[in-house]
Amino acid sequence: MSRRIGVLTSGGDAPGMNAAIRTVVRTALSFKMEPFGIYRGYHGLINDEIEKLVSSSVSGIIQRGGTVLKSARSQEFMTKQGLEMAVNNLKKHKIDSVVIIGGDGSFRGALSLMKHGIKIIGIPATIDNDIPCTDFSIGFDTAVNTVMDAVNKIRDTASSHERIYVVEVMGRHSGNIALYSGLAVGADSILIPEVPFELDQVCEKIRLAYEAGKNHNIVVVAEGISLPSDDIRNVSFGVGKYIEEHTGYETRIVILGHIQRGGSPTVNDRLLASRLAYHAVSLIHQGKSGKMVGEVDKLIKSWDLQYALAQEHTINMEYYRLASILSSL
Ligand code: F6P
Repeated sequence: MSRRIGVLTSGGDAPGMNAAIRTVVRTALSFKMEPFGIYRGYHGLINDEIEKLVSSSVSGIIQRGGTVLKSARSQEFMTKQGLEMAVNNLKKHKIDSVVIIGGDGSFRGALSLMKHGIKIIGIPATIDNDIPCTDFSIGFDTAVNTVMDAVNKIRDTASSHERIYVVEVMGRHSGNIALYSGLAVGADSILIPEVPFELDQVCEKIRLAYEAGKNHNIVVVAEGISLPSDDIRNVSFGVGKYIEEHTGYETRIVILGHIQRGGSPTVNDRLLASRLAYHAVSLIHQGKSGKMVGEVDKLIKSWDLQYALAQEHTINMEYYRLASILSSL
């Protein structure tokens, strides 16, 4: 049985990571295991930024966004030498299991550790919600709530000035943030990478809406969409320019950016993080490895990590269709 268990956060930070760290530490202690915090993700693992944690190390963090363990994206860990240094540091501290809190890139790194005899379990945490085998990843709910608050405010100005607002949200290659927040704010159009779209149709919809008496319009754009013209570097500027030129209505662009990654986690994210992290440590306590935990249909489950990483990320097409129906006249 594992006695010393490490925990790290890797990739983009996500609200709820702290709630997961807290649960890993306290669950490990309840199983009479010794928890160790690894700072700055795989970067810190290579540089031996490892510290023993006690219950009070994780006091007062459940409500905080970000990650108290810090996060980083490490290129060095991808090298043979970097991986060896990481494994040697774990061996030096007699840590034989690690809980990895992060996205799919972080999970791939975890598989490399496993090849060197380290037990690993992944906990999905990214605002993008692009990890297969879980309905939601930690941080997504808070991020969409942040977008919803922002667009509620933008809508006040949009209606006062009778303008069109193109709001760009994060998500990397996934349209999930745009889809969920777009549906929740009543966006007039939602552009996501998973569903082909025509900007002419977006413009036509705007024209019809204005003719019917609507005086403003909200277009939510996922950062991962691509536009036909290669010379358009920033997608939301491309969409905004096209709309203004083709409708003649004043258009503004708002890029919400990293504000979506911060903030106190919502109830949903705190509960999800706590439940997933408890399950992750329980698996290690049972001697399991090479798995990721996830929530499907409200139940916490685990999957073989290699299988999970081979699955495709999907979006909820029912939500997409609903948003289209509700935004048509
Ligand atoms: O994966 C989370 C995320 O916020 C993506 O939505 C976004 O594309 C990316 O990270 C931004 O990365 P960085 O913080 O390194 O600019």
